[in-house]
Amino acid sequence: MGIGADIIADDWHAALAALAWQVDLGATEPLGDAPVNRYEMVDPVRAAVPVVPAAPAQLAVGQDPVAVAVAMAAAATTLKELQAALAAYDHCELKRGARSLVFADGNPRARVLILGEAPGSEEDREGRPFVGRAGQLLDRMFAAIGLSRTAPDPAAAVYITNVMPWRPPANRDPEATEIAMMRPFVERHIALVDPEVIVVMGNTPLFALTGAKGILRARGGWQTAFGKPLLPMTHPAYLLRNPAAKREAWADLLALQARLRDGAAG
Ligand code: URA
Repeated sequence: MGIGADIIADDWHAALAALAWQVDLGATEPLGDAPVNRYEMVDPVRAAVPVVPAAPAQLAVGQDPVAVAVAMAAAATTLKELQAALAAYDHCELKRGARSLVFADGNPRARVLILGEAPGSEEDREGRPFVGRAGQLLDRMFAAIGLSRTAPDPAAAVYITNVMPWRPPANRDPEATEIAMMRPFVERHIALVDPEVIVVMGNTPLFALTGAKGILRARGGWQTAFGKPLLPMTHPAYLLRNPAAKREAWADLLALQARLRDGAAG
């Protein structure tokens, strides 16, 4: 299916939204009104610029994207500075296609930090994590054990962030290189919030924090990351697709509640 050339959009975001809409409908290639003979086209870039070997300079010492992320994250001493550091970080391609930097929501003094995967379209539009259908389920799940992102009391509150602050195109999974770039920021984020317990929702945050894959095997089993207790849970989007798995998610929530009651370190 082709993308029609009749997109009428007067700004960049409207054009991107119109394109995303057509991709959601199944468009896989652009089509113009008039046919183009691409065999006769001269590539203006190749014609004008001598071929240069692939830019190793981008990976020169000091410019490795992960090393840059480590340095920028380490320099942030507050959440505000960390958000500014992410906004200034230019090595992740996802940033170019995203409308917002989705940093976090909830109470930064909460005992529980929830780490998700990446923003979806609603989160990208609103600039807040977990506000779409999966986010509404996440709110209901944690409300069932007395925790909320809007609670002023740290004992009743959660703080919510994602591994990726930018929406991946068409909600694809983040790539390992993209996760590696964001990991130093996530580590710093956790250090600045200093929660008692981390809950990872789904495979991407499990992999980012532990290097392990397989959330269905890992869920419900306590681990340690950055010196803190970590509980892997299935992602609420998975629970929306597989309602039968809500039973296990409920068991995980009860395990979290018990851990908080007993004192998270115990
Ligand atoms: N899924 C996530 O993992 N994070 C969000 O913010 C929204 C959906």
